[in-house]
Amino acid sequence: MRLILLGPPGAGKGTQAKLMEKDYRIPQISTGDILREAVTAGSTLGVLANSFMRKGSLVPDEVVIEVIKERLARPEYARGYLLDGFPRTLAQAEALDRALGLAGSRIELVLSLVVDEEELVQRLAGRRVCERCTEVFHLSFRPPRATGLCDRCGGPLVQREDDREETIRRRLQVYKSETAPLIDYYRQRGKLREVSATGDPDAVKGRIDQVLRGSFGL
Ligand code: AP5
Ligand code: MG
Repeated sequence: MRLILLGPPGAGKGTQAKLMEKDYRIPQISTGDILREAVTAGSTLGVLANSFMRKGSLVPDEVVIEVIKERLARPEYARGYLLDGFPRTLAQAEALDRALGLAGSRIELVLSLVVDEEELVQRLAGRRVCERCTEVFHLSFRPPRATGLCDRCGGPLVQREDDREETIRRRLQVYKSETAPLIDYYRQRGKLREVSATGDPDAVKGRIDQVLRGSFGL
């Protein structure tokens, strides 16, 4: 399966990708995670990416497209993948289609996660991530067992730099102007499936399962 998880910041792309990875053994490729790793490593890519990410702006298309092309060529993705956070602009979607076309492959389905804006802000403002293993929590919706510590590895929980209120608003604006047009792009190509992403994560996953059963007979 070659799938895209499309949705605004806070829609639950990362949360659902982790659940799907486990159930379907389909590896997640998150451009946000890749770029954050580069920032932590202090690489040239990381320094460049951080100058955009900390403001809630998109990293330039040509940079992200190169990153994703390099990933998709790796053998572990030969049998499929779940794209989380890519593509995010029309130019990225077109570059992806071109690159896959040349390799004789294509995206099969795009799951578009739908959540109200007010709920998105709540989800992002309350999100905490483990600094060590990147597990994602929420102060109200998925609180850790011990305050400030990761359930999985005991690492410290921190707030993402771009989860501050002003930056959240900027990210939501950028989503509307740059990424939301992809909904029509994929609808016109018959690949879009909309999934309501409110309710608890398992309920959302149940809806995704239904769509995948309908489309792939899983
Ligand atoms: P990225 O890391 O992709 O961030 P994003 O798209 O803003 O999305 P998030 O990761 O914030 O949200 P999510 O949908 O994964 O939600 P999550 O599951 O964590 O990108 C970050 C930055 O990198 C961009 O701003 C840009 O600068 C750069 N970048 C990345 N890709 C790029 C690209 N292709 N081109 C250019 N630049 C790029 O959930 C959120 C919270 O809600 C969590 O606390 C979670 O526990 C909670 N939650 C999840 N599901 C539910 C539920 N059903 N009910 C209640 N709470 C829930
Ligand atoms: Mg994410």
